[in-house]
Amino acid sequence: MKAVAVRDGGKTAADLCIIEVARPETGRGHVLIRVTHAGVNRPDILQRRGLYPPPPGASPIMGLEVAGVIEQIVPDPQWGDDIGWKVGDQVCALVNGGGYAAYVSVDIRHLLPVPKGLSLAEAASLPEVSLTVYANLIEHGGLKAGEAVLVHGANSGIGSMTVMLGKAVGARVIATVRGAERIDWVRALGADVVIDTAAGDFIDTVKAEGGADVILDIVAGDYVAKNILCLKPRGRLVQVGMARGNTAEIDVTRIMQKQAILTGSMLRPRSPEEKARLTAEVRAKVWPLIEAGAIRPVVAKVFPFAEVGAAHAFLDSGAHSGKVVLEL
Ligand SMILES: NC(=O)c1ccc[n+]([C@@H]2O[C@H](COP(=O)([O-])OP(=O)(O)OC[C@H]3O[C@@H](n4cnc5c(N)ncnc54)[C@H](OP(=O)(O)O)[C@@H]3O)[C@@H](O)[C@H]2O)c1
Repeated sequence: MKAVAVRDGGKTAADLCIIEVARPETGRGHVLIRVTHAGVNRPDILQRRGLYPPPPGASPIMGLEVAGVIEQIVPDPQWGDDIGWKVGDQVCALVNGGGYAAYVSVDIRHLLPVPKGLSLAEAASLPEVSLTVYANLIEHGGLKAGEAVLVHGANSGIGSMTVMLGKAVGARVIATVRGAERIDWVRALGADVVIDTAAGDFIDTVKAEGGADVILDIVAGDYVAKNILCLKPRGRLVQVGMARGNTAEIDVTRIMQKQAILTGSMLRPRSPEEKARLTAEVRAKVWPLIEAGAIRPVVAKVFPFAEVGAAHAFLDSGAHSGKVVLEL
């Protein structure tokens, strides 16, 4: 089968190439998906550069989410016959690597149906952001109706899902972007307030808005101390990325004064059982919001599989808003 490989260290997107490799084995409790589309995510770029190695046992091939068609099912007898899926079903899924390939083996419990009314390309853009944002905004952050959420990088895949899920649960959404040209796009997702950090700091505006109960932060670095200043009493700062660096200097007095909670998580290292639980939660709580139109996929561009290097260069350039998808 065709799959994407990295040559010469992966420093640039031009180091990506397509090679022939054996189809993955489909173990007990797994399905083989014929991949039609694969989501392209920021961690893929880090993996290409050798900065985000696949965890033990994971496919060395890049790609954390796919959509496609079930080609083969290998049931696990302990789960019984009624597995809820059949060969030929259109599905999407979070995968533990291996998404940039014609076929990928996926734990049956990690499958999601293609939401009604959506294309396979749109479906491929959803699993990674849906699971990450649900886990961090709702489970770790505990965001509730009537609260306020601050999200940085609101034009990103993660950021755009945070804006839409935040609005869908009835929260007020304050968003930051870098550049005035992003403002209307993020406002159209439903954000109540959009701050252009290229024009000035976000702290005063967020404080003038009354502060944030939850902050979903993909930026870290010097943003951490600023975020703590923006939290309301008993606010929760949830760290999911570190675009500005993984260390921060903070005044811990502020944490104590506000009874703040600093937390965060990574999706990929979670156990298969934990991902299965999260997938079921997302199917029950987020998929109906997508099918009702309250959350919509935001695909910036679909690239043919042969142009995977161009897809990485596009994501790397920062020119996009929303998600990038490969079509096989
Ligand atoms: N913890 C987890 O489980 C998990 C899962 C998935 C993703 N993530 C992380 O979430 C982040 C977003 O992923 P994505 O796929 O949605 O990426 P993406 O679409 O490429 O977006 C990256 C975002 O980060 C912003 N950004 C980059 N450098 C910045 C800086 N120095 N200061 C302020 N903002 C900056 C970008 O702003 P511009 O558009 O203005 O450049 C953009 O909004 C990544 O850091 C990724 O590693 C974490």
